[in-house]
Amino acid sequence: MSEPHLFPIKYSASLLSADFRRLGEAVREIESVGIDMLHLDIMDGRFVPNISFGPLVLEALREQTSLVFDTHLMIVEPERHIPQFIEAGSQIISVHVETCPHLHRTVQTIRSLGARPSVVINPATPVVAIEPILCEIDQVLVMSVNPGFAAQQFIPSVLEKVRQLRLMREARGLSFDIEIDGGINPETAAPAVEAGVNVLVSGSSLLRKDVPLEKTFAALRAAVEAAQRK
Ligand code: DX5
Ligand code: ZN
Repeated sequence: MSEPHLFPIKYSASLLSADFRRLGEAVREIESVGIDMLHLDIMDGRFVPNISFGPLVLEALREQTSLVFDTHLMIVEPERHIPQFIEAGSQIISVHVETCPHLHRTVQTIRSLGARPSVVINPATPVVAIEPILCEIDQVLVMSVNPGFAAQQFIPSVLEKVRQLRLMREARGLSFDIEIDGGINPETAAPAVEAGVNVLVSGSSLLRKDVPLEKTFAALRAAVEAAQRK
């Protein structure tokens, strides 16, 4: 059972699967169907194999929407670029524990610059790696694919980490959100929410060429609401 009163479900659409020729329109459409946040996947070709886009793109989109910018930094030495991404309008900054030898300092920097700190763990990284920082952060992002590409297959074994995080949160009276990212669609969202996720990132299953966003989002929401009623 999830705790809807304490941790309302939020949806974050990953821009990686949008049509890059018309990003402004894509963002306005995401906002118009009632999705809460825009998930911005920043890739550097070093921490992950792929390269995506940088703060200039966020700055341009910031003028076109009031969606929360949920920025996912898949880059080495994220501390060098955090100020720019916050200046470009990010309200949430997610950094990978695998890239941060001084994680506590990085989290403090994010908060001191006025954004909400979030820490990400890869599928093979255990929860214990972020246990000491849980009381300092606003969100944990559990990767359900190996970061780097859109449209990969969901890895179900990460749900055990979601359950562990939820128990730790309850035991310590903390209130961080639990976000999941990678391979989320109506089938995988249901077990994720049952395990304790309350923020769902979805890219390729939401932003499709063949089905309007209104329909793909309705299907995702229906699956989540059914899981919450269980
Ligand atoms: C993976 C990214 C994800 C991904 C989500 O490296 O962090 O945000 O693009 O896309 P889907 O929903 O297609 O897995
Ligand atoms: Zn992401």
